[in-house]
Amino acid sequence: MEFKKFDNEIDASKFAADIVLDLIKNNNKAKLGLATGSTPITLYDILCSDYIKNKTNWSEVKTFNLDEYYGLSIESKASYHYFMNHHLFSKININKSNTYFPSENNNYDNLIKQNGSIDLQILGIGTNGHIGFNEPGSDINSLTRLVDLTKSTIEVNAKKFFNNDISAVPKKAISMGLKSIMQAKKIVLLAFGSSKYDAISKLKKSTKFDPNFPASVLFDHPDVTIIIDKEADIDL
Ligand code: F6R
Repeated sequence: MEFKKFDNEIDASKFAADIVLDLIKNNNKAKLGLATGSTPITLYDILCSDYIKNKTNWSEVKTFNLDEYYGLSIESKASYHYFMNHHLFSKININKSNTYFPSENNNYDNLIKQNGSIDLQILGIGTNGHIGFNEPGSDINSLTRLVDLTKSTIEVNAKKFFNNDISAVPKKAISMGLKSIMQAKKIVLLAFGSSKYDAISKLKKSTKFDPNFPASVLFDHPDVTIIIDKEADIDL
């Protein structure tokens, strides 16, 4: 695991955007694993600005999102389908039929395999160490499945995305598993702000998989870059 620390979220996101854009320029059929949440929004903004300026060609890129809420219409403004369309897909020349999300019936891991595996997986991290919605207790061999969100994840997401209305937050999601994530060729994890400090400190110390801290699985992947701002790790 390589840690890269930047003064602020914008510089950190620019660094991440360069990794994405270099990949697409070298391979116009690249497969990207994408995350939602507040963390990658600046990265997606930079990718959209790049498209306006440089017309990077996304037409043959395929994207695989990590997760989607369960029991929420994909038209809902709170869905991750909506989030991705709003923050990225509607602003670049991606072919919508090349954008995939896990669902109950689409055998997502096989779908990814049939497309030849993910070249670059973007991740955020939950304050409890979840990646995707692999909450504490997740199995190291987990594949895409229906999961229960923990109380703390529901509370954090209620604050960020549901006007603090806990009753509006879905309690389940379909998420790629830890094994699914680990099959990506390269992984970039982003973490910004002091709320991620504890999770990043634990990640730095991870030398083996701890099911109570799912992100620890990453210690065993050969190509992981952790991109953080200084608030997420004042000690590095
Ligand atoms: C979202 C996802 C989650 C988020 C995590 C951090 O697709 O998989 O693991 O990355 O909950 O969320 P934010 O970025 O809102 O702090």
